[in-house]
Amino acid sequence: MDAQERQARLAALEAEIRQCTRCPLHRSRANAVPGEGSLDAPIIFIGEAPGANEDRLGRPFVGPAGELLETLLERIGLTREDVYITNVVKCRPPGNRDPLPEEIEACKSFLARQVRLVAPDVIVTLGRFAMERWLPNRRITRVHGRGFRFGRCLVVPMFHPAAALRRPEWLPLLEADFDRLPAFVDAVRLGRRQAPGPPSLHVETVEEEKPPPAQLNLFDQGE
Ligand code: URA
Repeated sequence: MDAQERQARLAALEAEIRQCTRCPLHRSRANAVPGEGSLDAPIIFIGEAPGANEDRLGRPFVGPAGELLETLLERIGLTREDVYITNVVKCRPPGNRDPLPEEIEACKSFLARQVRLVAPDVIVTLGRFAMERWLPNRRITRVHGRGFRFGRCLVVPMFHPAAALRRPEWLPLLEADFDRLPAFVDAVRLGRRQAPGPPSLHVETVEEEKPPPAQLNLFDQGE
């Protein structure tokens, strides 16, 4: 698929998400929030669900957590336009409650199609709900900042920026995890099994029951 066709498919997918009525969240939303960013992004960031600001504007991470995300991106010389940013759930859960399993399930194939179209080197999961998509039953406090290989791609779980705003002692951990991201991207691009650097620059290969992102198209016929 050439770049023009991928771009057209991503735009069509984002439009489809904006119209979605698969779960009851569509009734209380002002706007669905498909995600945004570059089709050529080396990194896709996946948060939990839109909050009040995102719901109002139809864009991901535009509130305080988004400001922190932009500051963290600046540390590694990137802007939000250089990456792709989305969420596990595309509509705001009322009162910012946790997303329900059926809401996550309703959005699951949207996320799979976004990951497949962007085809990033690295998937950064922000917080527990996004981590559970690839790494169920792990503790974020144990695995944050490590690289888990799924096919060609690395999944790097991180604390959610909103969690670092609530617990300032987590901010230096999140900053350190961001600082390792360029080395993870290089490791994928150079096809290395182990990222260079300190031992904490960890890459683990995951034999998972779920299909890796690159194979999702075998199961999800949506694209
Ligand atoms: N928190 C999220 O998980 N996603 C957003 O888009 C904004 C805040």
